[in-house]
Amino acid sequence: EELRVFAPATVANLSCGFDVLGCCLDSVGDEMIVRKNDLNKTRITKITGQDLPLDADQNVAGVAVNALLKDLEVQQGFDIEINKRIKPGSGIGSSAASSAGAVFAVNKLLGDPFDKTQLVSFAMKGELLASGNAHADNVAPALMGGFSLVRSYCPLEVLALPVPEDLRVVILHPLIEIKTRDSRSIIKQTVSLKSAINQWGNLAAFISALYTNDYDLLGRSLVDEIVEPVRSILIPYFRELKLLSQDCGALGFGISGSGPAVYALCRGDENAQKLKEEINIFYGKKGIDFELHVSKI
Ligand code: HSE
Repeated sequence: EELRVFAPATVANLSCGFDVLGCCLDSVGDEMIVRKNDLNKTRITKITGQDLPLDADQNVAGVAVNALLKDLEVQQGFDIEINKRIKPGSGIGSSAASSAGAVFAVNKLLGDPFDKTQLVSFAMKGELLASGNAHADNVAPALMGGFSLVRSYCPLEVLALPVPEDLRVVILHPLIEIKTRDSRSIIKQTVSLKSAINQWGNLAAFISALYTNDYDLLGRSLVDEIVEPVRSILIPYFRELKLLSQDCGALGFGISGSGPAVYALCRGDENAQKLKEEINIFYGKKGIDFELHVSKI
């Protein structure tokens, strides 16, 4: 018995929702094959595309699956094959895709004993291994699709949010690696009341915009004065890219997860493709290798 799954890339934070907001990209992701074995243990049998640990205790997919199996108290082993298309350290949820894809497939093969929130909590164990912090803003949208909001971490409560029909994401991934662990370590641990007020105003407005299909409000809400000023320093030409996105009519622009990938939200395919072309021209001259994607959510 085996299952093939598409394990999607995700954009976490979306500027106004550090650690609580994320969305799923419907055309960028890994492929995984998960099958039962008779060995009573989880094995990572093959990884193509990237050089990652095959030891299940050192691999985010293995750790997430073992958390699930421990909770269920079943004696069942699984073999996991991963075709990694998302590069680790990219900022589009590479580790989350593996953790989420693995627990999703294992849960299916076991007859769906767990609900989505429980799967998110198991996949978060993979995030803990990868970054030293069990955030859910990549694994939740990877498992639930669309936009997700983490209302609470303890107890875990994750909400699925609506996706306005015309929304598109442009992702630029400069091929430099920024480890989430490192880019978390540079963030200040305290926030001024003024910044907090601005941030929760924007996050609330963003959620409202998703429900009312208000693209202008959605764009105005994509603001981050807490984390972006610190992390954007690590991303080559961040400011120029932001201005370029504004000039091209993007709704908003910011860091995808912990970077170095950046995202822009656009209304409609035409605007998204136009921005993609402009970024291609601009970044093409900078001597940095990169990947560019346009995706639905
Ligand atoms: N919310 C997390 C962070 C996402 O920004 O560190 C990591 O991809």
